[in-house]
Amino acid sequence: MNTAIIVDDDKLICRLVASILRTMDCEVMGTGEMGTEVLPLYREHMPDLVLLGINMPKVNGMEALKDLLDEYPNAQVVMLTDLADVAIAEATIAAGAKDFLHKDSGMQDLRGNIERVLRKIIKTPRAPSDSGAVPVEDYTSNLMDILKRRASVRSFTDRHVPDAMVRAVLSAAQHAPTSSNMQAYSFVVVRDDETKLKLAELAGGQGHVAQCPVFVAICADIHRLEDAIATGGGSLAKGHMEMSLVATIDAALVGMSASLVAESLELGGCMIGGMRNQPEDVAQVLGLPDGVFVAFGMTLGFPTDRPPSKPRYPDVGVIHWERYEEKPLADLHQTYNASLEAQKRETSRADGVPWTERLAKSFSEPKRLNLKGALHNLGYDFD
Ligand SMILES: Cc1cc2nc3c(=O)[nH]c(=O)nc-3n(C[C@H](O)[C@H](O)[C@H](O)COP(=O)(O)O)c2cc1C
Repeated sequence: MNTAIIVDDDKLICRLVASILRTMDCEVMGTGEMGTEVLPLYREHMPDLVLLGINMPKVNGMEALKDLLDEYPNAQVVMLTDLADVAIAEATIAAGAKDFLHKDSGMQDLRGNIERVLRKIIKTPRAPSDSGAVPVEDYTSNLMDILKRRASVRSFTDRHVPDAMVRAVLSAAQHAPTSSNMQAYSFVVVRDDETKLKLAELAGGQGHVAQCPVFVAICADIHRLEDAIATGGGSLAKGHMEMSLVATIDAALVGMSASLVAESLELGGCMIGGMRNQPEDVAQVLGLPDGVFVAFGMTLGFPTDRPPSKPRYPDVGVIHWERYEEKPLADLHQTYNASLEAQKRETSRADGVPWTERLAKSFSEPKRLNLKGALHNLGYDFD
């Protein structure tokens, strides 16, 4: 299936063109009404085809086309024009658009013209066809809104987070899927300032761990499981990779569930991998028994302000259909570098360090070389 985005301030024409494209096995990944929306939509979806109106407020189609082609010279853009705009439409072709469609021609003509444009411009099939043919943006839910707007929060107000609220969050999170219903995880909820300070230091001096009203240590826990298995007349086979992974994955799933539930109640927070800097010291501070380690922590509280959510890597580089498809990644990396930088610029936090460079700085050397031995001492082996 091919993909397209449509940007035109005439909502009716957007809907009409989208419905025609769908019947032609072309998925509409996003629509917008303003010229300023073209670049973000393009960065997010990397579509095969862009349908772009000419007369739009603020940034008109011609300007939007130039901005897009500056960043993506190979973008396939077709202008949507009124009959009166022919001269402008021709100017857009000179500026790099591949074609134009008269949006006020009749339905049949429009359909025929779209077919012609698709044949001319799109040559390679991409994702498999979706017989439902509902566009991506039509699938929405409250949960999707919460997930898409979320961002890690590292600064909290003094507003009290009641125990009942913490308990509601964590007990709801317990409904996360868990391997063989083992529920190989536990939470340790910390409010005590001194304990939070110790944990903040062990996490490498992370002030927000000390400042958050509530800190939740999300633990992989085979201690309770061992007891349950003994009660059932067996003895837990531990000290091997599978059991260690099962408990760690269980902890990750329950932790993410807790984070989402917290967000749904207007709380915010941040996962703290720094808990794995010195796992044995953390275990001692929290009084963890053998068979329990903190996979990561989670700060919780009411945010002072909500940071804007960070853009994510273009989904075409992440979602594979049927089989993993090795793709040339250079353009996708650059696209993501640019969209992160653009977001940082918008929020006055531009630092000029691309994502790829930041990763290279952080991950060219191995980390936490003490981890294997420390986790072994706590009852976990990854051999
Ligand atoms: C397992 C895990 C551990 C993390 N550890 C830390 C941490 O120790 N300190 C921190 O400030 N952020 C930490 N983060 C937050 C990430 O940096 C953050 O999720 C990522 O940059 C994406 O940003 P976003 O959450 O705002 O979308 C962690 C996230 C995860 C999932």
